[in-house]
Amino acid sequence: MNSPSQETFSAEVAQWSDIPGWFHWRAGQEEAVTVFGDGSVFVEVGSYLGRSLCSLADVVRTSGRDYTIVSVDTCRGSGAEGLSNEDAHGHAVEYGGGTFAGLLHRNVIACGFADVVDVLISSSPRAAGFFADESVAWVHLDARHDYDSVVDDIRAWAPKVRPGGWLSGDDYDSLIWPGVVAAVGDELPDAHGWLSGQWRWLKP
Ligand SMILES: C[S@@+](CC[C@H](N)C(=O)[O-])C[C@H]1O[C@@H](n2cnc3c(N)ncnc32)[C@H](O)[C@@H]1O
Repeated sequence: MNSPSQETFSAEVAQWSDIPGWFHWRAGQEEAVTVFGDGSVFVEVGSYLGRSLCSLADVVRTSGRDYTIVSVDTCRGSGAEGLSNEDAHGHAVEYGGGTFAGLLHRNVIACGFADVVDVLISSSPRAAGFFADESVAWVHLDARHDYDSVVDDIRAWAPKVRPGGWLSGDDYDSLIWPGVVAAVGDELPDAHGWLSGQWRWLKP
């Protein structure tokens, strides 16, 4: 996504594809609804303005399944990171006066998922503490991408995934996000590449 203007954030939203963001694992969402039964809990860590989150809710609604969908985000952005040390979420944080929580929730409501999605404004490891061990079917990580953050996320969420569940994440790219690949390799040697630029660990 290029550097956004104020209009990027004020523009009306009607569906997930109208929402700015970074998302390319819809095929994984479509796979998840064929694997997990009703009553399952899905957690997305790192939702930004809701692009991937509202796609997930859309896939779930279309499937007719009955899941709990929880979004976890500080709503304060990841700060500067990556090869270019870019603060990719900074404009949205500034637009919202220090938080994009209002934009995220507005987008969830505008897409028709206000009663389908629960937004938890919290840091990733802290939010994991609200879930019982082995209670979540699928956790998808897309928060900060440096080595230490991904290690923290994996250590916080892996115990929360139920046997047979998935722990997965975005930006599995050794050139652009080497910290993600290194952290996954160190913490979850059984994880593997998945879809385009994703990784996934199937909990035994
Ligand atoms: C790459 S963006 C997520 C993109 C999103 N999945 C989409 O579809 O556009 C990363 C998000 O992670 C959030 N984040 C960064 N560190 C976090 C942490 N420790 N806990 C929770 N959220 C965090 C940021 O606020 C940001 O919204």
